[in-house]
Amino acid sequence: MTKHMPPVAQDDTFRSDILNGLKKPQKTISSKWLYDDVGSHLFEAITELDAYYPTRTELSILEKQVKQYARLPGARGAMVELGSGSSRKTNLLLDAFSDLSVYMPIDISANHLKDAAERVRRAYPSLAVIPVAADFTQPLGKLPLLPELPVLVFFPGSTIGNFERHEAANLLKNIRSAMPQATMIVGVDRPKQKEVLVEAYDDPAGVTAAFNQNLLQRINRQLGANIDLARFTHQAVWNTEDSRIEMHLESSIDQTVVVDGVEFPFREGETIHTENSHKYSEEAFTEIANHGGWRVLDQDSDVNGWFSVYTLQAI
Ligand code: SAH
Ligand code: AVI
Repeated sequence: MTKHMPPVAQDDTFRSDILNGLKKPQKTISSKWLYDDVGSHLFEAITELDAYYPTRTELSILEKQVKQYARLPGARGAMVELGSGSSRKTNLLLDAFSDLSVYMPIDISANHLKDAAERVRRAYPSLAVIPVAADFTQPLGKLPLLPELPVLVFFPGSTIGNFERHEAANLLKNIRSAMPQATMIVGVDRPKQKEVLVEAYDDPAGVTAAFNQNLLQRINRQLGANIDLARFTHQAVWNTEDSRIEMHLESSIDQTVVVDGVEFPFREGETIHTENSHKYSEEAFTEIANHGGWRVLDQDSDVNGWFSVYTLQAI
């Protein structure tokens, strides 16, 4: 069905983003490029790890609150999911929303999205499943939704935490512009002990390291580079000031890598910053939501206060 971003356009954007990112004084690549087919599967493996607490913690909150969510107007209309990945958390809502008529998952990882949408279609044959392969940081344009249908936006996983504060507010504005009357259920990870956080992003089995390093393999695959993965190590660092875990790929030696014919010198210890994962208190997230044009209706958390699920209303 609708594909907002054809593969060729995505390839061109990938190339220019990587080259521009590697030219910066602090080499930086957007975390959205972690998700090709391999990256999406590695992320799924991360969600199964004991060390990676967010998935099971958010699921426990959703299970507890799902009856409440079923009363939101959009639960009887269209559910639009952002960064839907494998759509596994979605099943919980779809089981409880018996009157939902449309499910629209939006994700940048096109093949993974297609497979997930097919699984949902098979499991819920009466639901209209409309996958949209798109980068939701770009204007979403006119989504193929009937104007009279109430909309519930589902944005789980704390993917909103992968954006800087101003970017998160802009993203929320972008969502509100596309769906001006919507209600939103959004998962947000909270600050906690540094040891728990670092272990979640540098797990003993090395799955997160593989997820991070796959970005280099993707550059090799798509841009004909020959980066030696053994010369870059995965780093997960807690940045107290910005309340976020940062993922980096650190060069273990002085070296020059060539990407698309362009040379990029690295000093030993120099890094490519590949992801931010912000951890927000209720106060911090409420401020972002308000800046983005949304009012907080409700906030639910787990017993440890590790994760929050907010219900927001477009202002
Ligand atoms: N919602 C799932 C997956 C979270 S992983 C969960 O909670 O477990 C983040 C997802 O967002 C991935 O599937 C990734 O492909 C997608 N994503 C990341 N940046 C994106 C962007 N800019 N536009 C669209 N999808 C994006
Ligand atoms: C998708 N996103 C919210 C994950 C996170 O926790 O920031 C991505 C991730 N990165 C490393 N592990 C998981």
